[in-house]
Amino acid sequence: MSGFRFNLTPRDVAPVSTKHRRIKTKIPVPQSLPILARVEELESTSMHGALPVLWDRAEGHNVYDAWGNKWLDFTSTIFVTNAGHGNKRIRKAMKKVIDKPLLHTYMYVSRERADYLEYLIAKTPAHLDKAFMLSAGTEATECALKLMRMNGWKTGKKRPGILAFEGNWHGRTLGAQMMGWNPAQKEWIGYQDPNIHHLPFPYPWREEAMKDPRKYFREAIAKLCAEKNLDPKQDLCGVMMETWQGWCAAMYPPAFAQEVEAFCRENGLLLAFDEMQSGFGRTGKLFGYMHYGVEPDLLCCGKGAASSVPLSLVLGRKAIMDLPEIGSMSSTHSANPLVCAAGKANLQAILEDGLMANAERLGPVFQAELEKIRAAHPKHVSRIIGVGLVAAIIFRDPADQALAWLGDRASELSMERGLLVVHTGRESIKIAPPLSITEDALREGCAVLASSVADAIRERG
Ligand SMILES: Cc1ncc(COP(=O)(O)O)c(C=O)c1O
Repeated sequence: MSGFRFNLTPRDVAPVSTKHRRIKTKIPVPQSLPILARVEELESTSMHGALPVLWDRAEGHNVYDAWGNKWLDFTSTIFVTNAGHGNKRIRKAMKKVIDKPLLHTYMYVSRERADYLEYLIAKTPAHLDKAFMLSAGTEATECALKLMRMNGWKTGKKRPGILAFEGNWHGRTLGAQMMGWNPAQKEWIGYQDPNIHHLPFPYPWREEAMKDPRKYFREAIAKLCAEKNLDPKQDLCGVMMETWQGWCAAMYPPAFAQEVEAFCRENGLLLAFDEMQSGFGRTGKLFGYMHYGVEPDLLCCGKGAASSVPLSLVLGRKAIMDLPEIGSMSSTHSANPLVCAAGKANLQAILEDGLMANAERLGPVFQAELEKIRAAHPKHVSRIIGVGLVAAIIFRDPADQALAWLGDRASELSMERGLLVVHTGRESIKIAPPLSITEDALREGCAVLASSVADAIRERG
């Protein structure tokens, strides 16, 4: 986010009435403003700056306000509601637990916890045979950091070195933030852990990375080790990779990820993937790393893990997951029965109700529609990056200048036309509809986005 604020003056906008969208008031809705103002007054500024839409109800791929407007949702809130807003299976499972009632158990075992774990471990890759549940994504990446270091100490490493990547993001708690790249976001910490090292990211626009991804990685790691006097066998214990880069959905070339894995195996490092955005069917596969042909030791998941209530997960090999002794890895809300019920129903919806298959089928349609936007505006849209039902539109001019204004304005115009997109505050818009979306809704949303981008460019002259 950039501190950018959307216009809060209600405006007359063209009415919209289609199967998937309805706009019948001024936008923002005048009656919503006192409520937005009340929240802004009472809550930390950092939580503000979103598109001024007051959510009242959300179902499937639609978001409704209380004044008759209906948006087509290309955000899944923030890559969370993969199973669709208000998914019936999830609501039913949660209601059953609420009506027992059983709202919290801490570490005491519940049937819901046992059922979820059994289903989760059965349905996720065979080499990941244990899980640990948490609430926030940042707790999961922080936990993976701890596990990689514990494993490193156990295997006789001299230093707890972790490799992470330029541009990646892993959450806001101390360790997660240090593994993340953004230097400005880390200023408050006052120091950088000397055993967390960052390597260059193989962006699609870096020719040498695209030409020979394996060499690109090997040269970078050799340079790092020479500069910091590191012996990988002694001084490094793990690698944290964000499956794709959050702000722009850029993935690694598979050969790059495979080379990182080979390096890990050669030197006794654990390989962790941050699957927060990419997990639970988003790309048409259960986890995004599956596009790389590698086998991570640890997976950090959150967001789409329950498509609703706070659930994050670390999945891993038994030998690693059992490193912390009883009492040394726990969290108050971990494995809450309500959350476990939601987690199981969510995974069932994704796998058994055809949602992942829908993402796989519609992914190419989505990417092709977005590609048309790029082709129509070569001077403003430099790239479409994405896979399955996630994509980023990158706004850069031919001189490679970032056009953040275009992301801001196209997001705002889309909202006025009944479409919600992820406003990044940078030179990109991200889009990720619920995996339950239909083809006609997907095409309609892409057409709205195309018109918003075109009009934002036209306005600027
Ligand atoms: C890749 C990635 N990792 C970690 C996180 C942190 O998750 P949370 O906000 O639930 O702590 C996020 C959240 O945006 C994310 O996108």
